[in-house]
Amino acid sequence: MDQPRLGLRRHMSLRQLEVFEAIARLGSFTRAAHALHLTQPTVSMQIKKLSDAVGLPLFEQVGKRIYLTEAGQALHASCREMFDTLDRFEMTAANMMGLTQGRLRLAVVTTAKYFAPRLLGGFCERFPGVDASLKVTNRERVLERLQENQDDLYIFGQPPAEVEVEAVSFLRNPLVALGPVGHPLAGRARVPLAEFVGYPFLAREPGSGTRRALERVLNEHGLELNVRMELGSNEAIKQSVAAGMGVSVLSQHTLVGGAHDVCLLDVEGFPIERQWYVVYPKGKQLSVAARAFQDYLLAEGSQIADAAGTARPNPRDRKALRRGKAK
Ligand code: PGA
Repeated sequence: MDQPRLGLRRHMSLRQLEVFEAIARLGSFTRAAHALHLTQPTVSMQIKKLSDAVGLPLFEQVGKRIYLTEAGQALHASCREMFDTLDRFEMTAANMMGLTQGRLRLAVVTTAKYFAPRLLGGFCERFPGVDASLKVTNRERVLERLQENQDDLYIFGQPPAEVEVEAVSFLRNPLVALGPVGHPLAGRARVPLAEFVGYPFLAREPGSGTRRALERVLNEHGLELNVRMELGSNEAIKQSVAAGMGVSVLSQHTLVGGAHDVCLLDVEGFPIERQWYVVYPKGKQLSVAARAFQDYLLAEGSQIADAAGTARPNPRDRKALRRGKAK
């Protein structure tokens, strides 16, 4: 290595080169400052330091335009090579860390099946090398899996209190009151909670998070469910409500794709506002794929789930539901 190159490396920084490359590419200090979220004085200062390190001017101004000097052009070519090399290294490192070859094991509570496959699908499209698996079961079982550390990440409607966990919310999960079309409460406004729970109720199984959330609200009001039948599936409940067997409370996500022959009931205290949480045991070292999936959920989860119409019934259904009519 000869001395001058060593000196240059010691005095210039990657950040300066990044700023320089942006100006050369965008043809303007202002546009580069904007693109890099920097102030213009910061950009000018970085370029001044870089020219000082190189020992030659890098830009020249003719009229209102700026041009690369000969030294600037040579540096620009070197910069592009360096950044390409760094990009390739980044890919190699990601490979090593598992983003292109990793594994993601996700376990979710029953109701999350209405949006979790779509979220996972979007993620796998972006990272085709990640081998993903999805386990869907009720809250109690998902909790067991978490306690046994069987998966990378979990989705719950309520972070478990039984274990120390890290939990972050990423999506709304409103619980709505449902009845069959033509039910005496259909079309009435602000039905008292006590009146609603006086009707035969189709309940999720005791291990269900939906059921727990509802029972908590009822407990606060000193009320109890009048359970006519217990069913372990949201779909079975919807069908039974439609068949006129009773009323129920389900996550609004279950109405995706239409809710035939059921209508939303306007009951006091509804919708019960909840959130979906991405959860993992405290202290667990997340894999790169798991961390990337968590970031993706937080950044884009609600948008992707909403695009599927899962956070609310689609407008046509909503109108029919409001009028208490089937589609
Ligand atoms: P569940 O859980 O599907 O077991 O009812 C959903 C939730 O906790 O919201």
